[in-house]
Amino acid sequence: MNSNSKRTALVTGASSGIGKASAEVLARAGFTVFGTSRKPSGNSAGQVSMLACDVTNEASVASLVSTVLANTGRIDILVNNAGLGMFGGAEESSVAQVQSLFDVNLFGVMRMTNAVLPSMRRQGEGRIINISSALGFVPAPYSAHYAASKYALEGYSESLDHEIRGFNIRVSLIEPGTVQGSFDHSSLEPDSMMTEYDAGRAWVHGFYEKSKLTADTPEDVADAVLRAATARHQRQRYTVGKVAWQVSLLRRLMPASMFDKALRQQFRMPG
Ligand SMILES: NC(=O)c1ccc[n+]([C@@H]2O[C@H](COP(=O)([O-])OP(=O)(O)OC[C@H]3O[C@@H](n4cnc5c(N)ncnc54)[C@H](OP(=O)(O)O)[C@@H]3O)[C@@H](O)[C@H]2O)c1
Repeated sequence: MNSNSKRTALVTGASSGIGKASAEVLARAGFTVFGTSRKPSGNSAGQVSMLACDVTNEASVASLVSTVLANTGRIDILVNNAGLGMFGGAEESSVAQVQSLFDVNLFGVMRMTNAVLPSMRRQGEGRIINISSALGFVPAPYSAHYAASKYALEGYSESLDHEIRGFNIRVSLIEPGTVQGSFDHSSLEPDSMMTEYDAGRAWVHGFYEKSKLTADTPEDVADAVLRAATARHQRQRYTVGKVAWQVSLLRRLMPASMFDKALRQQFRMPG
């Protein structure tokens, strides 16, 4: 019997992209896997049992967690993957719209984590794996709110990791660069577009479109999720792919003024 066969993993946003690939790789590794979607198709995808959950809704999160616990009695791995993008000038989104972004990317993670922690504490172990982004540690013009949600996720995750380590529960961050898939199509458009930002917004859309041609795959990210779930000594951070690695290294080693200049050149920002 596989050493993971009595272990349960719960992956939010498992209907597509990184979440789907992560759920599948965990199932192949022997975990009993539950994935979520706001609208699960009814039939389970392969070895992954799909359940309904909207991470912005407290009752939906509570009902998901009690369904999983009723089935398996434990949740060993929580992968907080559900997330939305938002691209545009920072000034182009209302605070209400930014709140709706944070409701998924940050508060959704907190709702899921708070719902799962009591059972992890009871069983005396657990791992929480939060899907962040390279934009959780470097800025990017026309992605201010998305970057803010991921920077916040990083601060929350690292701090939480210190609090719950004494319960034998650890938190890891996964930091991909651009990943192939339909993430940009499900991203929010700014709700108050301004002509002043039309050219910049269009350029950045084109830049991400182009970078998708050489981007990492959801399966590359899923491999890092599997490592965080199964490594004997898991790391606090898994930066995925060559570009994210290089950017992370440059951010840490380059003088701030040089990094600032290089970033502006990369994004063709004037001045
Ligand atoms: N793609 C990239 O370039 C990239 C790079 C770095 C980090 N990331 C991060 O990776 C994660 C997954 O991205 P992806 O590229 O795989 O995107 P994706 O294919 O668009 O998948 C997003 C998932 O989130 C779920 N979701 C959205 N809103 C939800 C809500 N309110 N409640 C529950 N689930 C919700 C969706 O499920 P339903 O619509 O079925 O409910 C879907 O399964 C995100 O956290 C993203 O920030 C992505």
